[in-house]
Formats: sequence, structure tokens, C-alpha cells
Amino acid sequence: MSGYNELIQKIKELKEEKNAIILAHNYQLPEIQDVADFVGDSLGLARKASETEAEIIVFCGVDFMAETAKILSPDRIVIHPDTNAKCPMAAMVDVESLGWVKDENPQAPVVAYVNTTAAVKAETDVCCTSSNAVKVIKSLREKDIIFIPDKNLGLYAKRFIFDKNLILWPGFCPTHHKINKEDIIALKKEHPDAEILVHPECKPDVIDIADHVFSTQGMVDHASKSDSKEFIIGTERELCYRLKKENPTKEFYPMEAICPNMKKITIDRVLKSLENLDPKVTLSKDIIERAKLPLERMISIGRGD
Ligand code: 13P
Ligand code: SF4
Repeated sequence: MSGYNELIQKIKELKEEKNAIILAHNYQLPEIQDVADFVGDSLGLARKASETEAEIIVFCGVDFMAETAKILSPDRIVIHPDTNAKCPMAAMVDVESLGWVKDENPQAPVVAYVNTTAAVKAETDVCCTSSNAVKVIKSLREKDIIFIPDKNLGLYAKRFIFDKNLILWPGFCPTHHKINKEDIIALKKEHPDAEILVHPECKPDVIDIADHVFSTQGMVDHASKSDSKEFIIGTERELCYRLKKENPTKEFYPMEAICPNMKKITIDRVLKSLENLDPKVTLSKDIIERAKLPLERMISIGRGD
């Protein structure tokens, strides 16, 4: 057996021995996706974490996703193989500055994109993901709503919501920010039959030229159902690995968009973290209790794409 195959075999044995499950986001490296028990988007992963019977969750994704797993499954051990894998957008809103905006708008509930820290979630009313932002906002009775932290997702939601005033936060995803309309148009010229699928974290002018706007899981679901044979994928390029794996007869053209934090989770780190059961995600009981409510509301609202 080669060194790599031995490593994979060891991970599989340790998972079994320790009653562990590996959850991986769609942007994880191919070898991580291949060894995972479940690969999905933020909503699917949150749901899976809340339902699992396993004693240990090894979470392969960025910090807010691992925290979300811990909040929804506080009695389980949640391991985040590299604690430096942090989402820069989640770091664009903190409790103190959110407090100022809440003070200025005391009647407005706060909808938090799941890309936020646990401490920030604890100060909010309901969470959402890229799959269900519109559905979550529409579920609220209030007219004024504070939406944090992704301005692009908020602007996208505004296209479908006419009776509410969304107070947007100026956050953004640096990876999706780099996806340009011009690059998509150039790819479309090369592949005129390709459908353009983009993520709602993209800039408004990119959304304007898309055929469909989906969460990462929404893109996976759509690609398998669609009659199209070719797709231009406006999100982090690793999603194309899963898309091709599940649709080998179709073609997927990625953009130059890489999330460097997602790539910090390596297969060696996954093995090490299973061997040592470290680094564990730890959150205070108070934060878990307060952050759980908005997350459970989000899960009960369900998918929107
Ligand atoms: P999804 O929930 O659509 O997978 O998005 C998560 C994310 O961080 C996108 O950048
Ligand atoms: Fe955060 Fe963007 Fe990376 Fe998603 S792609 S985890 S939003 S930095």
C-alpha cells in the first residue's frame, strides 16, 4: 500500500474506532471530500451536525462552520483540524459594532448570515445561509431588518423583497469579490451553450448575467437535474471537483476563485486531529445557549433553493 493509501486507511480505521464522523464543506480539497462521510453546503452541514449519532465530529471547513456544529451538537466533541482556517467575512462584524447598529434601530430584528462568529450569532434573532436568506427574511413580520455581514447576499435578497427595509452591513467575501463579470463573459464566448451558475456572495453585476443563483448545494442539485451539458461555475473552484465526480458526462468551467482558508485543512491534519482528538472547538455555555436559537430557527425554515 502506498503512503497515501495507508494514511487514508488509518483515517478510516480511527473514524470507526472512535465513533467519529467527518463533515466537509464543498470547497474542501478533493482528498478531504473523498474521505468525508458527508460533503455539503453550510445548511446541509449544520443539519447533519445537529442530527449525528457519532460521538466525535471532525469538521473540515472554516471556523464559523465548526462553531455552528458545536452549538448544534454541544454534547459531542467537535474537532477543527486547523484553527487558522478562518472566514474573513465572518471577522467583518463583531459584537460591539453590531451593538451600535442595534441601538440605532431598536425595533429591527437581526438576520445573521451563518458566516458569523458564535459570539455574534448569540446577539441575533435568526440565522440564514446562502440557500435560504430570502425565505428567512420573508418569514419575519417586521419592516426594518438588520442583515449582517454580507452586503452582496443582502443586495441579492433585496431583489425579491419589496415590503421590507434591509439595513445592510458592509461585509463581503474576498474570494467571491474577485469573480468578475468580464471573465464570465469571456468564458461564455468560449462555451456558448454553458449555463452560468453563480453564488449570491458574488457582486451584483455578476448576479445580473447569471442564469441561476444558488448556494453550493443548490448548484450541485441543479447540475444533476439540468438538461445542459456545460456549466460556468461562479464560486470557489473546488466545487467543480464534486460537480464532475457526480456528473462525469458534463463539463464544469471554474472561475479563478480560491478560498485560502478552506485549503488549510489538509489530509495530514485530519489524521493528526483524529489521533489526538485535538484541536477541539470550545464555546461557553452561555454563548451556546444564546446562539442555538437563531440557528435552530434557520434549520426549521429549511432550504430555499
Ligand atoms: P454555501 O453555504 O453556499 O456552501 O456557502 C458557504 C460559503 O462560505 C460560501 O463562500
Ligand atoms: Fe468565507 Fe468566502 Fe471562504 Fe466562504 S469563500 S469561507 S465566505 S472567505
